[in-house]
Amino acid sequence: MSAFDALKAELVAEPKTWLVTGAAGFIGSNLVEALLRLDQRVVGLDNFATGHEKNLAQVQASVGPARWANLSFKRGDIRDLITCHDACKGVDYVLHQAALGSVPRSIEDPISTHAANNTGFLNMLVAARDARVKRFVYAASSSTYGDHPALPKVEDIIGKPLSPYAVTKLVNELYADVFGRCYGMESIGLRYFNIFGRRQDPQGAYAAVIPKWVASMIHGEPVYINGDGETSRDFCYIDNVIQANLLAATSPHADAANQVYNIAVGDRTTLNELFEAIRSLLAPRFPHLADVKPVYRDFRSGDVRHSLADISKARTRLGYAPSHRIADGLAEAMDWYVQDLA
Ligand SMILES: NC(=O)c1ccc[n+]([C@@H]2O[C@H](COP(=O)([O-])OP(=O)(O)OC[C@H]3O[C@@H](n4cnc5c(N)ncnc54)[C@H](O)[C@@H]3O)[C@@H](O)[C@H]2O)c1
Repeated sequence: MSAFDALKAELVAEPKTWLVTGAAGFIGSNLVEALLRLDQRVVGLDNFATGHEKNLAQVQASVGPARWANLSFKRGDIRDLITCHDACKGVDYVLHQAALGSVPRSIEDPISTHAANNTGFLNMLVAARDARVKRFVYAASSSTYGDHPALPKVEDIIGKPLSPYAVTKLVNELYADVFGRCYGMESIGLRYFNIFGRRQDPQGAYAAVIPKWVASMIHGEPVYINGDGETSRDFCYIDNVIQANLLAATSPHADAANQVYNIAVGDRTTLNELFEAIRSLLAPRFPHLADVKPVYRDFRSGDVRHSLADISKARTRLGYAPSHRIADGLAEAMDWYVQDLA
């Protein structure tokens, strides 16, 4: 039995109370759904800055009324300390996902990114400390590797941040570490690489590449590649992220807490390969995609050229074993996108 299967059985036998911030967003709503399916008690917090009511409605429909009743959803803003204190009451584990994502958004509006990602983060740390939660797991980011060229990325070797967003995510790690030293608080940072899957928003200027391309292809719009298409990423399916969060929150290993971990698959895919993978999955259902080609344009400022994770630390200390490689995840996600968008 895998570490994750054993954990799921334990949680069902002895349910816990979890706070998921960013609960109406892509990753947060998937965490809420997974926890409700395991009969956990869940508190959700979101201000709908980039999240959507429809994400929660989909979770409700998928888990059914009995399990949905185990969710207490609070509309609120992590920039407000009282809201954070209120949300943390009686909580065992915090999965902190709320933030303003996107490198280009942070370059255009660093103040809003700082307020949500740093002031909001610090509020959540203080509230979780005061509520004496068992562990505080938070969404860190591969952007923390910045300009360091080494591949694959190993947790201890980072460069200088390339965007205000990357600065905020690095500051999260520093604050979490210091809260361990000063207050004995247990935290774990999960450095997500490029995450994708159901409910990732395809709309807007700051949409992530996979949902944006899927939507453009389905709607017969041009697909833009920033640069020559040889930029590469370690794309990671949402189910791997759910596994990582639950293992991180509960791992009993003495050396597991107060650490950061790469959460990815350990595979490198170029944007040209990604384009072809998505096109070939959609082409049987959308004949206009039979020989569609991408449109190349300038590189985007703040983007790193290559990203590939070494995931051995998460494997050995957390028992993380990704269940989906990119092709498996794309196939599952595509069914969802076709239903949602077509
Ligand atoms: N998706 C990725 O590839 C990726 C990669 C690295 C890190 N991350 C991090 O993972 C987390 C979740 O990202 P996501 O992709 O699900 O994005 P998302 O935009 O779908 O979710 C973020 C959620 O946080 C909420 N939120 C934002 N500001 C808030 C505030 N002040 N108060 C309360 N709620 C607020 C939003 O409304 C949204 O529902 C973020 O911290 C992000 O930085 C994501």
